[in-house]
This record gives sequence, C-alpha cells and structure tokens, in this order.
Amino acid sequence: MKYIKHIAIVLALISFSSCNKGDDKLAMSSDSTDTTKNVSIENKVEELLNKMTLEEKIGQMNQYNGFWDLTGPAPSEGVAAKKYEHLRKGYVGSMLNVRGVEDVMKVQKIAVEETRLGIPLIIGFDVIHGYETLSPIPLAESASWDLKAIERSAEVAAEEAAAAGINWTFAPMVDISRDARWGRVMEGAGEDPFLGSKIAVARINGFQGDDLSDPKTIAACAKHFAGYGFSESGRDYNTVDVGTSTLYNTIFPPFEASTKAGVRTFMNSFNELNGVPATGNKFLQRDILKEKWKFDGFVVSDWGSIAEMIAHGHAKDGKQAAEMAANAGSDMDMESYMYVEELAALVKEGKVDEKLITDAARRILRVKFELGLFDDPYKYCDIDREKATLGKQEIHDAVLDMAQKSVVLLKNENSLLPLKKENQKIAVIGALANDKTSPLGSWRIAAKDETAVSVLEGLKQYNGNQITYAKGADLSTGENTFARELTINTTDKSEFAKAKSVAKNADVVIMVLGEHGFQSGEGRSRTEIGLPGVQQELLEEIYAVNKNIVLVLNNGRPLALPWADENIPAIVEAWHLGTQSGNAIARVLYGDYNPSGKLPMSFPRNVGQLPLYYNYKSTGRPNEPSPGEVFWSHYMDESNTPLYPFGHGLSYSKFVYSDLAINANDADKYITVTFNLKNESKVKGKEVAQLYIQDLFASITRPVKELKGFELVELEAGEQKRIEIKLTKDELGFYDNQGNFIVESGDFKVFVGGSSKTILEDKFNLQWDISQ
Ligand code: BGC
Repeated sequence: MKYIKHIAIVLALISFSSCNKGDDKLAMSSDSTDTTKNVSIENKVEELLNKMTLEEKIGQMNQYNGFWDLTGPAPSEGVAAKKYEHLRKGYVGSMLNVRGVEDVMKVQKIAVEETRLGIPLIIGFDVIHGYETLSPIPLAESASWDLKAIERSAEVAAEEAAAAGINWTFAPMVDISRDARWGRVMEGAGEDPFLGSKIAVARINGFQGDDLSDPKTIAACAKHFAGYGFSESGRDYNTVDVGTSTLYNTIFPPFEASTKAGVRTFMNSFNELNGVPATGNKFLQRDILKEKWKFDGFVVSDWGSIAEMIAHGHAKDGKQAAEMAANAGSDMDMESYMYVEELAALVKEGKVDEKLITDAARRILRVKFELGLFDDPYKYCDIDREKATLGKQEIHDAVLDMAQKSVVLLKNENSLLPLKKENQKIAVIGALANDKTSPLGSWRIAAKDETAVSVLEGLKQYNGNQITYAKGADLSTGENTFARELTINTTDKSEFAKAKSVAKNADVVIMVLGEHGFQSGEGRSRTEIGLPGVQQELLEEIYAVNKNIVLVLNNGRPLALPWADENIPAIVEAWHLGTQSGNAIARVLYGDYNPSGKLPMSFPRNVGQLPLYYNYKSTGRPNEPSPGEVFWSHYMDESNTPLYPFGHGLSYSKFVYSDLAINANDADKYITVTFNLKNESKVKGKEVAQLYIQDLFASITRPVKELKGFELVELEAGEQKRIEIKLTKDELGFYDNQGNFIVESGDFKVFVGGSSKTILEDKFNLQWDISQ
C-alpha cells in the first residue's frame, strides 16, 4: 500500500522535474568580495527558494540513509531503487552514513549534476568521539573538565571526518542524565547542567570552528531535544515525564547554550515529553527553540521518529505523523519517508501551511550555503586530503592527550600508584586488558575493529618490569552480528586457576575489568550495574591470593562497586578511551601523566539508589532526627550518599584548599569568590577546583548544591595560587515555572573543594532582584 502510494507521488512529480533541466542550476560562483556574508547568504537562499517547486522544497526536508552499494550498479528494485529515483529527482536533501570521498562524490554528483536545480546534499554522520581515530567516549572526555582539550578533540574529529567527505555530525549529545542504567550516558557530559553546557559549547566550537566554510570544519547538532536522558527507569526510548522546573533548569540549559554558541542543527528525540512525542512537539521546537531562543538552523528528526509517533499512540497513520511533525517544527525527516510521501498532499489539503515548508527548506539551504557547498559541492571530496588526514600523527597525539586527561583516579591507598618502573613482577589479568576493540566503544562506525592500543600493549612499552598476562575469564562468549550485542560469560571460570597462580607471584596485580564497549550506548540499558559476568568473582578470588591490586575499570557508565571500594587499594576509572587507550592508561599508571580527571556523574553504591545526583533538592525531612528514627527521607538498607561523588577524582599530588573569601562589594555586577589552592606534595599536578552555591530560600526551591564555577589549575610541587571565580546573575539566577529567568535576593551559601563533597563553606547575602 505504502509502495503504491509512493509510486504515485513519483509519477506525479516526473512531469515537472524533467522540464528546464539544467537551465535553473544555481550559479556556483563564490562571492569573495562580499563582506556581508550573512546578508549575501540570505539573498542567495531566497533567490533559490523562488525557483523551487513545493516538491523540491519538501525534497530538501528528506534525509535517506546510504542505500546501495555505491561502487556497484544503480539499484533497480526495492526501497533502494525508490530512494535512488528520489535522489535523481532532487527529492533528497541529505544523506547519512555515506562516507569516504569516493562514495560521497558519487551521491553528490547525482544531486549536483542530475537534478533540476543541482542543490548539493548535506552529508551527515555520527562523528560522536572521532571518525576513524577515536577519542574517549564523550562521558570520559567530560571527566577531564578540560574544555580546551575537549574542543581540540572535536576539532580533530571534524578534520578527519571532513576529509572523508562528511560535512555534518550528529553530535554533541547534550542530554543531561542522572540514571546510570541508561546506556547512552556514555554519549553525554553527565549529570550536571552547568558542566554540560560548557562542554556542549566546547564541542560545538571544536566541530564548527570559526568558519563553517573552512573544509576542515563540519556542522554540529545538539541532540536529543528534549528530555531523552530522563527516560523512565533508564530504559532507552522510554517515556519522559518531568516537571517544568527540571525542564527549564536541568534539561534545557545545555541546549540553550548550544544555540548561543551557534550550533547549526538540532535533533529531536525518540521519547515523548509529558505526553507529546518530542518529534511532534510544537512547544519544544517552535515555541522554545525557534521563537524564544531564535535558533535559525534546522531540526532533523531522530531516526524514524516521525513514523514512531504512530506507535506512541499520537498519530493515527503516517500522513498524520508527517502533518504533526512538520507543523511542530521538525525540518528534516530522517528515514521515516513520511515527508517525501505525504507532505505535498498535506499542503494541498491545507493541513500544513506552505510557509512552514518554505521555512524548513530555507533553514536547510542556509546551512548548506554556510558550509560553502554551493561554492564547491566537492570541497569535502579530495582523495589526496583524505589519504593524508585519516589516522595522521597529529590526530593520534590529540586523542592520546584527551585520553590521559579523561582518566579518573578513584582510590589510591598506600600510594600503590604510580607503579615503580623497574624490577617489579606485574601480573595483568582480565580479558579487557588484551582487548583492542572494546576501548573503541559502541559509536565507532568508521573505526576498524582491533585498532585500539590495548592496556597490555601500553604496559609492555615500559620494559623495566616483568609482565605476565592471564585472561582469568572471557567477558563474552559471542556477539550478534547486527547490533553487536554480547552474550556475557556467566559460567565459565576454567581459567581462574591459571590467573591465580600468576597473581600469587606478582608484586602488583593490574586487573582490567568492567564493561565491553558494546555494553553501553544506544539500546544498551542495564538493570545491574556491577561488574558483568564472572568478573566480580574473579576479582575476589585474585584478591584472596594477592591484595596488591590496581583495578582498572573500563566502562561507559557509572558502576556500583562497593566491594571493590572497600577492599581494593587502587581503583582507576579508565572508561572506553578510544584508539590510544592502552598508551594513556600505561602513562597514568606509571605516573608519566599525573591523573587529573573528575567524575561527571555520581557513582552509586547500588542500582536501587538511581536516579542519583549531587544537585538534588532537600526534603521536609532531610536529616535523621535522632539515631534509629525511621520517619526521615532515607533507605533502611543503604546510605543516601554515593560511593564516589560527582566531581571526585584524586591525583598523585596532594591539594589543600584554604582561606575562602567572598567579596560582595560589586554585588550589582558580580560576587567574587577567592580561595587558596596549594600543592602540598613533591609532584607537579593539576586540580579541578570546584565552586558550588546554594540559594537557601527561593520561590522555586533550589538544589542543596549547584556547580557554578570551576578552574583547572596546574601547580608545581609546593606551589600555591589564589583562585578567583566570579558569580554573575547567570550563575545566581534560575528559571521559574513559566520559563522566565529570575534572580532573587537573599542568603546564599558558597562551597569550594575538589569534588561536590566540598571542603570550604561561607555565606553571603544577595541584594538583587532581577526578573526578565
Ligand atoms: C540515534 C541518533 C543518531 C541517529 C543516526 C539514532 O538512532 O538516536 O543519536 O544520530 O540514530 O545514526
């Protein structure tokens, strides 16, 4: 049925697409003398729109996944043939997952040379933490709190992807999430909107650079708008129901910061938000994004999310789904085929105003012009550049730098770390220690298997010690080929004995345990967040023969590891660190890089504490009235506190905070907070000094702590610096339940320290009242 309908539309459109072929092709000249680039782009967009038929405008709103073997013959039947036909008619504005100069050239050539107007395609791809050479997963990068390094990581990712023909990434994911069960926490910046906003901006700046028309830069995409990270029970794609205060103060800020940073595209999300699927949500896409925030780029749907509104129980069929999505402000349809099939009829029936179609096409064309695709549609298609760029040393250097900065030292008793460089017998245990694929994570479509440096390879470069490796146990016993979902080994312990004998004779045991890269990411939610399979047993059995264990964790989400925290002397959070993983980990373990990472998400004691986050609200009964009392906000079987708090991370240096002072003299402009930070150790190191506030009494209750400033400070051994952080109205205010940003006078607390479990505390009284 769908197919017949589709053919009918194609036939109806053939008549106009064959006329005037070539006559109206847009002049492809670049106007270098034009100083008012934006005005010029707007004029060109309007000029082009005037030439376009309704169907061609709708074509710009249609995005297809790469659909045939581009090096083979053109497809002649099935969905691929239909898509191919559309491409040749100018009914495709964008493609995703076509990559590599040769293939991109082929589709671009069809769009430019065979369609009536020759409008180039925008080529999208999930450059999430790199293209072929991978940086750490975004959650890991966020643990660096190093905005320059994060920007650089996005910059090299853009350079590599752009060299392979890509000009648009579906990143950064700026969804705040407080639930470690959700597999996609690996793709975001963690639980905090302040840190998340800074990181969103750093990533966007890295991808887009100063000039989008520079062939080394690509358009970025803030996703998923909105609320995706709040899916109920951490189950991917699940319902989201949040109040306005959370929406405005926690979910929106990184998106708003993205628009201010000039992100060129947004992606909506799979979830419904308070009863309305985000894809058909006018409040989100028109009222907030396009009206209130004045976003002038375009919104792409998530994969098939227009059609999914039927399953949501919102649209009764594809036609209504297209109507709802277009009216709500979803400008481009990713793989639902609904716009191309239904929109023209909907306009003719008066259900979708043609002005909205023109507006969507205008937004898409604007970004294409900004990318310079009309000046040269093949500017991303230089085969020599591709060869010279992919995997070049400079990119490896940047991802190694990012990887070592992403490591978080969770625990280090008796200074077990850093390791001595000579005369040590070191046992390395764990399947993940010898894994060259897992560190690449699950968002690694263009990276080849087995291309990461394993921990074992990294450690072996330090040849003053004797290293013996024993797997101990397999983490998985196989994977399905489609989604690479793993079958976890929950029974086979046959190699435990060998690992124990290796561990027994060692001075230090390095155990690399945790999740495989394919255990977090899209569709990979978990209800148990301990060590998967038989790894916990392996850890305990090795501990029974040698307590000198350094536990190196590989994971894409916070894990709950209370036993390890209680017993294992040194724990290193090494996430999935990308291509240079093993080198970065070895450098940290040997002290060639002094760890400086801090957790961007709280680590729970057990899964029952989730969602868990440091910036929670107080309750009417926050404290135990007297020992043993029941009627206060707590669990009977576990503490309320996390195992490792947000912001936590140790160093081989020792940092001491003192002398907090608050200056409110310039209070109509800002509050100045100063304090001393001293490195009281013999090693140079870096510390992320963190500042939190609490607005004690407010018309909308405020969290018990909110991160509002941080500084990454490098200190020589024994060095002390006075740190100054200013708090302006942006940090002191909040959104009311109508979405107005307000600042209320009154008492505030200020907290300072090396984690959200802060050390110094003071108070001030704010005299301003600002409402906007
Ligand atoms: C994901 C998006 C992604 C898109 C294209 C979807 O399943 O939710 O984040 O960009 O696929 O690959």
